[in-house]
Amino acid sequence: MSEPTGNYQFQTAGKIIAGPHAIQRLGHALTGAGQASRALIVASDTMRKRGVTDEIAALLAQRGIASEAIGGVMREPTADHIEQLADRVGKEHFDVYIGIGGGSVLDATKLLSVLRTNRLGVREMIGTELITGEGIPTVLIPTTSGTGSEATPNAIVTLAEEKLKIGIVSRHLLPRLVVLDPVLTLGLPKPITAATGMDAFTHALESYISNKANPISDMLALESIRLISRSIVPAFHNGSSLEDRSAMLLGSMLGGMALAGSGTAAVHAMAYPLGGRFNIPHGAANAMLLPHVMAFNLDRIRDKLEIVAAAMGIAKEPGRPAAAAERVIERIAEWTEELEIPQDLTAYGVQAADIPSLSAAAFNVRRLMDNNPKPVSTGQIEAVYRKLLPREAIK
Ligand SMILES: NC(=O)c1ccc[n+]([C@@H]2O[C@H](COP(=O)([O-])OP(=O)(O)OC[C@H]3O[C@@H](n4cnc5c(N)ncnc54)[C@H](O)[C@@H]3O)[C@@H](O)[C@H]2O)c1
Ligand SMILES: [Fe+2]
Repeated sequence: MSEPTGNYQFQTAGKIIAGPHAIQRLGHALTGAGQASRALIVASDTMRKRGVTDEIAALLAQRGIASEAIGGVMREPTADHIEQLADRVGKEHFDVYIGIGGGSVLDATKLLSVLRTNRLGVREMIGTELITGEGIPTVLIPTTSGTGSEATPNAIVTLAEEKLKIGIVSRHLLPRLVVLDPVLTLGLPKPITAATGMDAFTHALESYISNKANPISDMLALESIRLISRSIVPAFHNGSSLEDRSAMLLGSMLGGMALAGSGTAAVHAMAYPLGGRFNIPHGAANAMLLPHVMAFNLDRIRDKLEIVAAAMGIAKEPGRPAAAAERVIERIAEWTEELEIPQDLTAYGVQAADIPSLSAAAFNVRRLMDNNPKPVSTGQIEAVYRKLLPREAIK
Protein backbone atom coordinates (compact mmCIF):
# COMPACT_ATOMS: atom_id res chain seq x y z
CA MET A 1 0.00 0.00 0.00
CA SER A 2 1.10 3.58 -0.60
CA GLU A 3 2.67 5.39 2.30
CA PRO A 4 0.63 8.26 3.79
CA THR A 5 3.68 10.55 3.78
CA GLY A 6 3.54 11.55 0.08
CA ASN A 7 1.71 14.47 -1.55
CA TYR A 8 -1.66 13.65 -3.02
CA GLN A 9 -5.09 15.07 -3.59
CA PHE A 10 -8.58 13.75 -4.14
CA GLN A 11 -11.73 15.28 -5.52
CA THR A 12 -14.97 13.66 -6.58
CA ALA A 13 -18.64 14.22 -7.37
CA GLY A 14 -20.59 16.58 -5.11
CA LYS A 15 -23.18 14.03 -3.99
CA ILE A 16 -24.01 10.40 -4.75
CA ILE A 17 -27.39 8.74 -4.34
CA ALA A 18 -27.38 4.98 -4.82
CA GLY A 19 -29.45 1.83 -4.64
CA PRO A 20 -32.14 0.00 -6.62
CA HIS A 21 -34.60 2.55 -8.08
CA ALA A 22 -32.43 5.44 -6.84
CA ILE A 23 -33.57 7.32 -9.95
CA GLN A 24 -36.96 7.77 -8.30
CA ARG A 25 -35.21 10.11 -5.86
CA LEU A 26 -33.77 12.31 -8.63
CA GLY A 27 -36.48 15.00 -8.50
CA HIS A 28 -36.21 15.19 -4.72
CA ALA A 29 -32.41 15.41 -4.85
CA LEU A 30 -32.58 18.21 -7.41
CA THR A 31 -35.12 20.31 -5.56
CA GLY A 32 -33.07 19.76 -2.41
CA ALA A 33 -29.89 20.85 -4.19
CA GLY A 34 -31.13 24.22 -5.42
CA GLN A 35 -33.68 25.98 -7.53
CA ALA A 36 -33.55 23.87 -10.68
CA SER A 37 -36.56 24.73 -12.79
CA ARG A 38 -35.40 23.62 -16.26
CA ALA A 39 -33.34 20.56 -17.06
CA LEU A 40 -31.74 19.25 -20.25
CA ILE A 41 -31.65 15.45 -20.48
CA VAL A 42 -28.82 14.04 -22.64
CA ALA A 43 -29.00 10.45 -23.90
CA SER A 44 -28.31 8.07 -26.75
CA ASP A 45 -31.07 7.16 -29.18
CA THR A 46 -31.18 3.64 -27.65
CA MET A 47 -32.05 5.08 -24.24
CA ARG A 48 -34.60 7.51 -25.71
CA LYS A 49 -36.36 4.73 -27.57
CA ARG A 50 -36.51 2.69 -24.38
CA GLY A 51 -38.46 5.50 -22.76
CA VAL A 52 -35.76 6.30 -20.19
CA THR A 53 -35.73 10.01 -20.99
CA ASP A 54 -39.55 10.18 -20.79
CA GLU A 55 -39.39 8.48 -17.39
CA ILE A 56 -36.92 11.08 -16.13
CA ALA A 57 -39.00 13.93 -17.58
CA ALA A 58 -42.04 12.59 -15.69
CA LEU A 59 -40.09 12.32 -12.43
CA LEU A 60 -38.89 15.91 -12.81
CA ALA A 61 -42.35 17.18 -13.72
CA GLN A 62 -43.69 15.78 -10.42
CA ARG A 63 -41.31 18.23 -8.71
CA GLY A 64 -42.19 21.16 -10.95
CA ILE A 65 -39.03 20.90 -13.06
CA ALA A 66 -39.56 21.34 -16.81
CA SER A 67 -37.24 19.43 -19.13
CA GLU A 68 -36.19 18.84 -22.71
CA ALA A 69 -34.32 15.82 -24.03
CA ILE A 70 -31.59 15.62 -26.63
CA GLY A 71 -30.82 12.17 -28.08
CA GLY A 72 -28.44 10.92 -30.72
CA VAL A 73 -25.20 10.92 -28.71
CA MET A 74 -22.86 8.65 -30.67
CA ARG A 75 -20.69 5.87 -29.21
CA GLU A 76 -17.17 7.02 -28.29
CA PRO A 77 -18.02 10.55 -29.49
CA THR A 78 -15.82 12.66 -31.73
CA ALA A 79 -14.94 16.29 -30.93
CA ASP A 80 -16.95 17.43 -33.96
CA HIS A 81 -20.00 15.42 -32.88
CA ILE A 82 -19.94 17.03 -29.43
CA GLU A 83 -19.76 20.50 -30.97
CA GLN A 84 -22.72 19.62 -33.22
CA LEU A 85 -24.65 18.55 -30.11
CA ALA A 86 -23.74 21.86 -28.48
CA ASP A 87 -25.11 23.70 -31.53
CA ARG A 88 -28.35 21.73 -31.19
CA VAL A 89 -28.65 22.77 -27.54
CA GLY A 90 -27.99 26.37 -28.60
CA LYS A 91 -28.14 29.25 -26.18
CA GLU A 92 -31.26 28.09 -24.39
CA HIS A 93 -30.95 28.25 -20.65
CA PHE A 94 -31.10 25.12 -18.50
CA ASP A 95 -30.24 25.02 -14.79
CA VAL A 96 -28.92 21.50 -14.97
CA TYR A 97 -27.74 18.98 -17.58
CA ILE A 98 -28.68 15.38 -16.83
CA GLY A 99 -26.69 12.72 -18.71
CA ILE A 100 -28.04 9.17 -18.66
CA GLY A 101 -26.14 6.43 -20.49
CA GLY A 102 -22.74 4.83 -20.85
CA GLY A 103 -19.42 6.66 -20.67
CA SER A 104 -20.00 8.12 -24.13
CA VAL A 105 -23.12 9.99 -23.00
CA LEU A 106 -21.65 10.97 -19.63
CA ASP A 107 -18.53 12.42 -21.28
CA ALA A 108 -20.65 14.25 -23.86
CA THR A 109 -22.82 15.73 -21.08
CA LYS A 110 -19.78 16.94 -19.17
CA LEU A 111 -18.41 18.65 -22.27
CA LEU A 112 -21.76 20.19 -23.24
CA SER A 113 -21.88 21.73 -19.78
CA VAL A 114 -18.52 23.50 -20.11
CA LEU A 115 -18.96 24.36 -23.79
CA ARG A 116 -22.04 26.37 -22.78
CA THR A 117 -20.12 28.59 -20.36
CA ASN A 118 -16.58 28.79 -21.78
CA ARG A 119 -15.39 30.46 -24.99
CA LEU A 120 -13.43 27.40 -26.03
CA GLY A 121 -13.94 24.65 -28.61
CA VAL A 122 -13.54 20.98 -27.66
CA ARG A 123 -10.07 20.81 -29.23
CA GLU A 124 -8.91 23.79 -27.17
CA MET A 125 -9.94 21.96 -24.00
CA ILE A 126 -7.71 18.94 -24.70
CA GLY A 127 -5.11 18.58 -21.96
CA THR A 128 -5.16 19.12 -18.22
CA GLU A 129 -7.01 22.00 -16.52
CA LEU A 130 -7.38 24.20 -19.62
CA ILE A 131 -11.07 24.89 -18.93
CA THR A 132 -11.27 28.10 -16.95
CA GLY A 133 -14.94 28.54 -16.04
CA GLU A 134 -17.46 26.38 -14.23
CA GLY A 135 -19.98 24.65 -16.44
CA ILE A 136 -23.74 24.21 -16.07
CA PRO A 137 -24.20 21.83 -13.06
CA THR A 138 -24.49 18.21 -14.19
CA VAL A 139 -26.21 15.07 -12.95
CA LEU A 140 -24.62 11.88 -14.27
CA ILE A 141 -26.54 8.59 -14.32
CA PRO A 142 -24.43 5.68 -15.59
CA THR A 143 -26.14 2.78 -17.36
CA THR A 144 -22.98 0.74 -17.99
CA SER A 145 -20.54 -0.53 -15.34
CA GLY A 146 -18.32 0.95 -16.77
CA THR A 147 -16.13 3.85 -17.22
CA GLY A 148 -16.65 5.38 -13.80
CA SER A 149 -16.90 8.65 -15.75
CA GLU A 150 -19.53 9.81 -13.25
CA ALA A 151 -16.75 10.18 -10.68
CA THR A 152 -13.84 11.41 -12.78
CA PRO A 153 -12.76 14.88 -13.94
CA ASN A 154 -12.10 13.37 -17.40
CA ALA A 155 -13.86 13.30 -20.74
CA ILE A 156 -12.46 11.25 -23.61
CA VAL A 157 -12.99 12.38 -27.20
CA THR A 158 -12.15 10.85 -30.56
CA LEU A 159 -10.35 13.05 -33.08
CA ALA A 160 -11.60 11.53 -36.32
CA GLU A 161 -9.07 13.10 -38.71
CA GLU A 162 -6.07 12.32 -36.53
CA LYS A 163 -7.57 8.87 -35.72
CA LEU A 164 -6.82 9.51 -32.06
CA LYS A 165 -8.60 9.23 -28.72
CA ILE A 166 -7.55 11.84 -26.24
CA GLY A 167 -8.40 13.06 -22.75
CA ILE A 168 -9.73 16.34 -21.42
CA VAL A 169 -9.11 16.67 -17.68
CA SER A 170 -10.65 19.44 -15.60
CA ARG A 171 -12.14 19.82 -12.16
CA HIS A 172 -15.04 21.56 -13.92
CA LEU A 173 -16.06 18.22 -15.42
CA LEU A 174 -17.01 16.70 -12.06
CA PRO A 175 -20.77 16.39 -11.59
CA ARG A 176 -22.91 17.97 -8.91
CA LEU A 177 -24.87 14.74 -8.43
CA VAL A 178 -24.45 11.05 -9.34
CA VAL A 179 -27.34 8.60 -9.39
CA LEU A 180 -26.22 4.96 -9.16
CA ASP A 181 -29.26 2.84 -9.96
CA PRO A 182 -28.35 -0.79 -10.74
CA VAL A 183 -31.83 -1.44 -12.13
CA LEU A 184 -30.84 0.67 -15.16
CA THR A 185 -28.06 -1.80 -15.96
CA LEU A 186 -30.14 -5.00 -15.80
CA GLY A 187 -30.73 -5.00 -19.56
CA LEU A 188 -27.11 -4.40 -20.54
CA PRO A 189 -26.31 -6.88 -23.36
CA LYS A 190 -23.67 -9.55 -22.65
CA PRO A 191 -20.83 -8.16 -24.85
CA ILE A 192 -21.25 -4.68 -23.32
CA THR A 193 -21.40 -6.15 -19.79
CA ALA A 194 -18.12 -7.93 -20.53
CA ALA A 195 -16.23 -5.07 -22.18
CA THR A 196 -17.36 -2.32 -19.81
CA GLY A 197 -16.81 -4.55 -16.75
CA MET A 198 -13.24 -5.20 -17.84
CA ASP A 199 -12.74 -1.44 -18.39
CA ALA A 200 -13.82 -0.87 -14.79
CA PHE A 201 -11.46 -3.58 -13.51
CA THR A 202 -8.62 -2.08 -15.59
CA HIS A 203 -9.23 1.33 -13.99
CA ALA A 204 -8.93 -0.19 -10.52
CA LEU A 205 -5.87 -2.31 -11.26
CA GLU A 206 -4.01 0.39 -13.19
CA SER A 207 -4.79 2.93 -10.46
CA TYR A 208 -3.42 0.54 -7.84
CA ILE A 209 -0.09 0.01 -9.64
CA SER A 210 0.20 3.59 -10.98
CA ASN A 211 3.25 5.66 -10.08
CA LYS A 212 0.76 8.21 -8.73
CA ALA A 213 -1.07 5.70 -6.49
CA ASN A 214 -1.76 7.11 -3.01
CA PRO A 215 -3.54 5.94 0.15
CA ILE A 216 -6.97 7.17 -0.99
CA SER A 217 -6.77 5.74 -4.51
CA ASP A 218 -5.42 2.44 -3.10
CA MET A 219 -8.39 2.02 -0.82
CA LEU A 220 -10.86 2.75 -3.62
CA ALA A 221 -9.02 0.54 -6.11
CA LEU A 222 -8.88 -2.51 -3.82
CA GLU A 223 -12.56 -2.31 -2.96
CA SER A 224 -13.35 -1.92 -6.66
CA ILE A 225 -11.19 -4.97 -7.45
CA ARG A 226 -12.95 -6.97 -4.72
CA LEU A 227 -16.45 -6.11 -5.95
CA ILE A 228 -15.74 -6.62 -9.65
CA SER A 229 -13.83 -9.90 -9.16
CA ARG A 230 -16.80 -11.34 -7.33
CA SER A 231 -19.44 -10.24 -9.82
CA ILE A 232 -18.08 -9.79 -13.35
CA VAL A 233 -18.61 -13.38 -14.49
CA PRO A 234 -21.98 -13.88 -12.70
CA ALA A 235 -23.26 -10.56 -14.13
CA PHE A 236 -22.24 -11.72 -17.62
CA HIS A 237 -24.04 -15.06 -17.34
CA ASN A 238 -27.04 -13.82 -15.39
CA GLY A 239 -27.65 -10.19 -16.29
CA SER A 240 -30.79 -9.98 -14.16
CA SER A 241 -28.92 -10.56 -10.88
CA LEU A 242 -29.50 -7.32 -9.01
CA GLU A 243 -26.82 -8.27 -6.49
CA ASP A 244 -24.11 -8.65 -9.15
CA ARG A 245 -25.28 -5.64 -11.13
CA SER A 246 -25.15 -3.56 -7.92
CA ALA A 247 -21.63 -4.76 -7.16
CA MET A 248 -20.51 -3.98 -10.72
CA LEU A 249 -22.01 -0.48 -10.70
CA LEU A 250 -20.45 0.41 -7.36
CA GLY A 251 -17.15 -1.25 -8.35
CA SER A 252 -17.15 0.79 -11.54
CA MET A 253 -17.69 4.10 -9.74
CA LEU A 254 -15.00 3.28 -7.16
CA GLY A 255 -12.64 2.45 -10.04
CA GLY A 256 -13.40 5.87 -11.53
CA MET A 257 -12.70 7.53 -8.19
CA ALA A 258 -9.43 5.61 -7.90
CA LEU A 259 -8.28 6.69 -11.36
CA ALA A 260 -9.29 10.27 -10.66
CA GLY A 261 -6.76 10.18 -7.82
CA SER A 262 -3.92 8.25 -9.42
CA GLY A 263 -4.43 7.89 -13.18
CA THR A 264 -4.43 4.89 -15.47
CA ALA A 265 -1.26 3.71 -17.20
CA ALA A 266 0.13 1.70 -20.15
CA VAL A 267 -3.00 -0.40 -20.80
CA HIS A 268 -5.11 2.70 -21.39
CA ALA A 269 -2.32 4.42 -23.36
CA MET A 270 -2.19 1.40 -25.68
CA ALA A 271 -5.98 1.11 -25.91
CA TYR A 272 -6.47 4.67 -27.19
CA PRO A 273 -4.88 4.21 -30.65
CA LEU A 274 -6.89 0.98 -31.07
CA GLY A 275 -10.07 2.97 -30.44
CA GLY A 276 -9.04 5.97 -32.54
CA ARG A 277 -7.88 4.03 -35.61
CA PHE A 278 -9.88 0.81 -35.55
CA ASN A 279 -12.96 1.74 -33.50
CA ILE A 280 -12.28 -1.10 -31.08
CA PRO A 281 -14.66 -0.52 -28.13
CA HIS A 282 -12.71 0.97 -25.25
CA GLY A 283 -13.44 -1.85 -22.78
CA ALA A 284 -12.62 -4.62 -25.25
CA ALA A 285 -9.29 -2.97 -26.13
CA ASN A 286 -8.36 -2.74 -22.44
CA ALA A 287 -9.44 -6.32 -21.74
CA MET A 288 -7.26 -7.69 -24.54
CA LEU A 289 -4.21 -5.73 -23.44
CA LEU A 290 -4.52 -6.08 -19.66
CA PRO A 291 -2.98 -9.54 -19.01
CA HIS A 292 -0.07 -8.89 -21.40
CA VAL A 293 0.80 -5.47 -19.97
CA MET A 294 0.58 -6.84 -16.42
CA ALA A 295 2.91 -9.72 -17.39
CA PHE A 296 5.34 -7.08 -18.75
CA ASN A 297 5.10 -5.10 -15.50
CA LEU A 298 5.27 -8.17 -13.24
CA ASP A 299 8.83 -7.80 -11.89
CA ARG A 300 8.02 -4.25 -10.69
CA ILE A 301 4.61 -4.94 -9.18
CA ARG A 302 4.87 -8.41 -7.63
CA ASP A 303 4.19 -7.14 -4.09
CA LYS A 304 1.18 -5.15 -5.20
CA LEU A 305 -0.26 -8.04 -7.20
CA GLU A 306 -0.06 -10.23 -4.08
CA ILE A 307 -2.36 -7.75 -2.34
CA VAL A 308 -4.58 -7.64 -5.45
CA ALA A 309 -4.78 -11.46 -5.38
CA ALA A 310 -6.05 -11.30 -1.80
CA ALA A 311 -8.71 -8.73 -2.83
CA MET A 312 -9.71 -11.01 -5.71
CA GLY A 313 -9.98 -13.96 -3.31
CA ILE A 314 -7.38 -16.02 -5.23
CA ALA A 315 -4.27 -15.66 -3.07
CA LYS A 316 -4.43 -19.29 -1.97
CA GLU A 317 -6.40 -21.62 -4.17
CA PRO A 318 -6.31 -25.37 -3.72
CA GLY A 319 -4.74 -27.15 -6.71
CA ARG A 320 -3.31 -23.92 -8.19
CA PRO A 321 0.47 -24.00 -8.02
CA ALA A 322 1.11 -20.53 -9.48
CA ALA A 323 2.25 -17.83 -7.08
CA ALA A 324 -0.38 -15.24 -6.14
CA ALA A 325 0.96 -12.51 -8.46
CA GLU A 326 0.99 -14.84 -11.48
CA ARG A 327 -2.50 -16.04 -10.55
CA VAL A 328 -3.84 -12.48 -10.94
CA ILE A 329 -2.58 -12.41 -14.54
CA GLU A 330 -3.86 -15.93 -15.22
CA ARG A 331 -7.26 -15.07 -13.79
CA ILE A 332 -7.58 -11.96 -15.99
CA ALA A 333 -6.76 -14.08 -19.06
CA GLU A 334 -9.35 -16.67 -17.94
CA TRP A 335 -11.94 -13.90 -17.64
CA THR A 336 -11.37 -12.62 -21.19
CA GLU A 337 -12.02 -16.15 -22.44
CA GLU A 338 -15.07 -16.69 -20.26
CA LEU A 339 -16.44 -13.26 -21.18
CA GLU A 340 -15.94 -14.08 -24.88
CA ILE A 341 -13.63 -11.14 -25.56
CA PRO A 342 -11.49 -12.04 -28.59
CA GLN A 343 -7.74 -12.07 -27.92
CA ASP A 344 -7.24 -11.12 -31.55
CA LEU A 345 -6.71 -7.65 -33.02
CA THR A 346 -7.23 -8.94 -36.58
CA ALA A 347 -10.92 -9.45 -35.68
CA TYR A 348 -11.05 -5.63 -35.76
CA GLY A 349 -9.02 -5.21 -38.96
CA VAL A 350 -5.58 -4.61 -37.39
CA GLN A 351 -2.70 -6.03 -39.46
CA ALA A 352 0.94 -6.67 -38.57
CA ALA A 353 1.94 -3.66 -40.71
CA ASP A 354 -0.12 -1.36 -38.44
CA ILE A 355 1.80 -2.27 -35.28
CA PRO A 356 4.73 0.23 -35.55
CA SER A 357 2.46 3.27 -36.01
CA LEU A 358 0.08 2.07 -33.27
CA SER A 359 3.08 1.70 -30.95
CA ALA A 360 4.38 5.17 -31.75
CA ALA A 361 0.93 6.62 -31.00
CA ALA A 362 0.66 4.72 -27.70
CA PHE A 363 4.18 5.77 -26.68
CA ASN A 364 3.14 9.40 -27.14
CA VAL A 365 0.23 9.15 -24.67
CA ARG A 366 2.67 10.44 -22.03
CA ARG A 367 -0.09 11.55 -19.60
CA LEU A 368 -0.77 7.85 -18.96
CA MET A 369 2.48 6.14 -19.99
CA ASP A 370 4.35 8.14 -17.36
CA ASN A 371 2.13 6.54 -14.69
CA ASN A 372 3.26 3.03 -15.65
CA PRO A 373 5.41 1.45 -12.93
CA LYS A 374 7.92 0.24 -15.53
CA PRO A 375 9.10 2.43 -18.43
CA VAL A 376 7.94 1.03 -21.77
CA SER A 377 9.83 1.51 -25.07
CA THR A 378 8.13 1.52 -28.50
CA GLY A 379 9.73 -1.89 -29.17
CA GLN A 380 8.19 -3.29 -25.98
CA ILE A 381 4.80 -1.81 -26.90
CA GLU A 382 5.08 -3.48 -30.32
CA ALA A 383 5.84 -6.82 -28.64
CA VAL A 384 2.65 -6.55 -26.55
CA TYR A 385 0.46 -5.67 -29.56
CA ARG A 386 1.97 -8.60 -31.48
CA LYS A 387 0.81 -11.01 -28.76
CA LEU A 388 -2.70 -10.12 -29.93
CA LEU A 389 -2.09 -11.12 -33.56
CA PRO A 390 -2.66 -14.73 -34.55
CA ARG A 391 0.60 -16.38 -35.67
CA GLU A 392 -0.26 -16.24 -39.37
CA ALA A 393 -0.63 -12.44 -39.21
CA ILE A 394 2.89 -12.01 -37.83
CA LYS A 395 5.44 -11.66 -40.61
N1 LIG B 1 -14.47 9.91 -18.55
C1 LIG B 1 -13.83 8.86 -18.12
O1 LIG B 1 -13.29 8.87 -17.03
C2 LIG B 1 -13.77 7.64 -18.99
C3 LIG B 1 -13.14 6.48 -18.52
C4 LIG B 1 -13.11 5.38 -19.35
C5 LIG B 1 -13.69 5.42 -20.62
N2 LIG B 1 -14.29 6.57 -21.06
C6 LIG B 1 -14.90 6.67 -22.39
O2 LIG B 1 -16.27 6.24 -22.32
C7 LIG B 1 -16.65 5.71 -23.59
C8 LIG B 1 -17.14 4.29 -23.45
O3 LIG B 1 -18.23 4.23 -22.57
P1 LIG B 1 -18.93 2.81 -22.23
O4 LIG B 1 -17.89 1.76 -22.22
O5 LIG B 1 -19.75 3.01 -21.03
O6 LIG B 1 -19.82 2.52 -23.51
P2 LIG B 1 -20.79 3.45 -24.36
O7 LIG B 1 -21.27 4.60 -23.58
O8 LIG B 1 -20.09 3.76 -25.65
O9 LIG B 1 -22.02 2.48 -24.61
C9 LIG B 1 -21.85 1.29 -25.35
C10 LIG B 1 -23.21 0.87 -25.91
O10 LIG B 1 -24.03 0.41 -24.83
C11 LIG B 1 -25.33 0.96 -24.95
N3 LIG B 1 -25.90 0.98 -23.59
C12 LIG B 1 -25.50 1.75 -22.56
N4 LIG B 1 -26.21 1.44 -21.45
C13 LIG B 1 -27.07 0.47 -21.81
C14 LIG B 1 -28.08 -0.26 -21.08
N5 LIG B 1 -28.28 -0.08 -19.79
N6 LIG B 1 -28.79 -1.19 -21.77
C15 LIG B 1 -28.56 -1.42 -23.08
N7 LIG B 1 -27.61 -0.76 -23.81
C16 LIG B 1 -26.89 0.18 -23.18
C17 LIG B 1 -25.09 2.32 -25.59
O11 LIG B 1 -26.26 2.82 -26.20
C18 LIG B 1 -23.99 1.98 -26.59
O12 LIG B 1 -24.54 1.48 -27.79
C19 LIG B 1 -15.41 5.76 -24.46
O13 LIG B 1 -15.41 6.91 -25.27
C20 LIG B 1 -14.30 5.79 -23.44
O14 LIG B 1 -13.10 6.31 -23.97
C21 LIG B 1 -14.36 7.66 -20.25
FE1 LIG C 1 -11.17 3.13 -19.36
